[in-house]
Amino acid sequence: MQTRVLGKTGVMVSALGLGAMPLSVPDNRPAEEQAIAVIHHAIACGITFIDTADAYCLDDTETGHNERLIGKALRQLPASRREKVFVATKGGLIRPQRRWDRDGSPGHLRAACDASLQALGVDRIDLYQYHRIDPAVPLKESLGCLKELQQQGKIRFLGVSNFGINDLDAACSMVDIVSVQNEYSRRHRLPELVPPGRAPRPEPDTIGTLEYSHKHQLAFLPWSPLNGIGQAKSLGTTDAAVAGVAAARGVSPQQIVLAWLLAQGPQVIPIPGASRQSSISDSVKAVDLNLTAAELQALRAWQK
Ligand SMILES: NC(=O)c1ccc[n+]([C@@H]2O[C@H](COP(=O)([O-])OP(=O)(O)OC[C@H]3O[C@@H](n4cnc5c(N)ncnc54)[C@H](OP(=O)(O)O)[C@@H]3O)[C@@H](O)[C@H]2O)c1
Repeated sequence: MQTRVLGKTGVMVSALGLGAMPLSVPDNRPAEEQAIAVIHHAIACGITFIDTADAYCLDDTETGHNERLIGKALRQLPASRREKVFVATKGGLIRPQRRWDRDGSPGHLRAACDASLQALGVDRIDLYQYHRIDPAVPLKESLGCLKELQQQGKIRFLGVSNFGINDLDAACSMVDIVSVQNEYSRRHRLPELVPPGRAPRPEPDTIGTLEYSHKHQLAFLPWSPLNGIGQAKSLGTTDAAVAGVAAARGVSPQQIVLAWLLAQGPQVIPIPGASRQSSISDSVKAVDLNLTAAELQALRAWQK
C-alpha cells in the first residue's frame, strides 16, 4: 500500500483510509463479528488510517459504538500490527433521537474526549477532529478546550471537519491544525474552486478548501468520497465520465473515483466507508491506478 504524509505531522499513513461509519450508523449495520472482520481485513489490505467518531452510533444510548468496535478489533491484533494503525476520531456532535445535533461546549468536548479514550482503549488519541462548528459556542472556546486536552497529553494531533476557508483561517490562528475533513466526491465538489458561472451552495461553504489545505500543509480527508452510504453503488450509472473510464480500464467505478480523488493533490487521503470486505479489496486497488492526463481530463466535468 502506498503511503502519504498526514499534513505537516511527518506521520505516514496509507494513501487510502477506512471510513468506519457504515459499521455503526445504518439500521442494517453488520453484526459485531462481521464489523471486526471488516476492520481486520482493511488492515490486512495495508490500510493504516481509520476514521471514526463518537457520534457513529444509532442514537445517544450507544455513543461510542464505532470507537468501541475499533478498539476491540485493534486489541485482537498483535502489538506490532496494532501500533501501525492511526485512528482519527471526532467530537462535537451528539445523537439525541437519532438526530445529528451539535455541542461544541468545552464541558461536552472534555467529557467526549475522555469517553473516546475509554471507548478506543488508548491513553492518547492519534487525531481528534472537531466534527462540525457549533454556532452557539465561540470557535475559540471549542478549540481552546481541545488545545488544553492536547496539552494534557490526551490528544496527539488536532484536526477539523466541515470547515470553510474563513473557519480554517480562524482555527489556524488559534491552534495547530493538521487536517481538514470535508465532503468531497464526484457529486459534491465544493472543495475545488467553483468554476465560473456556477453559484456557490449554502453553508457549510467549503469552496476552495482543497487548495487551502495544500497551501497550509493540511491533510485533506474527503468524506463520503463515493457519494455516501447507499449511493456508492450507483456510481457507475449516475456518472457517465466515471463509467466510461471504468469500462475502458475494466475496473469498478469506485476505483476510478478514488484514483481521481488521489490525483487531486498529495495531501488528499480519501476515507471510503465499507461494511463488506469485498468493498475494501476493490477500493485499495485504486491506489495503484495512476490515471492518465487524458483520463483526468475526461473526469474534469462536474457530475450533474
Ligand atoms: N466528517 C463528517 O461530517 C463525515 C460525514 C460523513 C462521513 N464521514 C466519514 O467518511 C467516511 C466515508 O463516507 P461514507 O461511509 O458516508 O460514504 P462513502 O465512503 O462515499 O460510501 C460508503 C459505501 O460505499 C460502499 N463501497 C465502498 N467501496 C466500494 C467499492 N469498491 N465498490 C462498491 N461499493 C463500495 C460501501 O458499501 P458496503 O457497506 O456494502 O461495503 C459503503 O457502504 C465515513 O465512513 C466516515 O468515516 C465523515
